Amino acid sequence: MIEPPFDLSETDRLLTTTRAVRRRLDLERAVERSVILECVEIASQAPTGSNRQGWRWIVVDEPDLKKGLADLYRRGAMGYLTKARASAQDRGDAQTVRVFESTLVLADTMQDVPALVIPCIEAPTANRALPATAWSGLYGSIFPAIWSFQLALRSRGLGSTLTTLHLQHAQEAAELLGIPNGTMQAALLPVAYTIGTDFKPAARPPAETIVHWNHW
Ligand SMILES: Cc1cc2nc3c(=O)[nH]c(=O)nc-3n(C[C@H](O)[C@H](O)[C@H](O)COP(=O)(O)O)c2cc1C
Repeated sequence: MIEPPFDLSETDRLLTTTRAVRRRLDLERAVERSVILECVEIASQAPTGSNRQGWRWIVVDEPDLKKGLADLYRRGAMGYLTKARASAQDRGDAQTVRVFESTLVLADTMQDVPALVIPCIEAPTANRALPATAWSGLYGSIFPAIWSFQLALRSRGLGSTLTTLHLQHAQEAAELLGIPNGTMQAALLPVAYTIGTDFKPAARPPAETIVHWNHW
């Protein structure tokens, strides 16, 4: 094998240990705006459909606005999360029970996280009925940047969780933050330094069980 252009042990560790962090967000340590800008700068290298580069990032670090967003998140989340936890318990699915336990902790503490980041995409046509390719193009032009942002955070000792449940109240969030029409919110990321940095790969199905060669 030729010499790879990166230190694979480090890049693979970054890619396999960037977890959804909820309980281990350090709520006491401030997050500098400069580190968020640095991570957005890196995320701006992500691909976008037709090279439109329509990302917009709203970083909320003002306490009243964080509280307003956290309330919207809880309104969107609590019913779903408590039901989902109960159904994982009924199935005896311990990994998913742990996930939903921690989602409930995050829901409780969302307003205390140092920064709440809402990645948006310019989407002037999103409120019309769109064909599947257009939705794919819209979401596909923001989610690669979101993941790059999360990886850049992780490599600097910060963590986040990709959340979407506030989007049930996206219009109210738009009014709270003055997000203009034609700009679509894609997610809400609580961002903080992490308590410790020793995250581990999660259990996932082996690649052979989810790959089909040539035919399904
Ligand atoms: C599209 C999407 C929506 C998600 N929404 C939420 C959410 O609203 N709240 C939350 O706490 N986690 C949310 N998550 C995080 C998942 O629960 C998490 O990625 C999954 O449990 C795997 O955890 P891990 O990344 O630590 O392995 C979301 C993830 C994705 C990809």
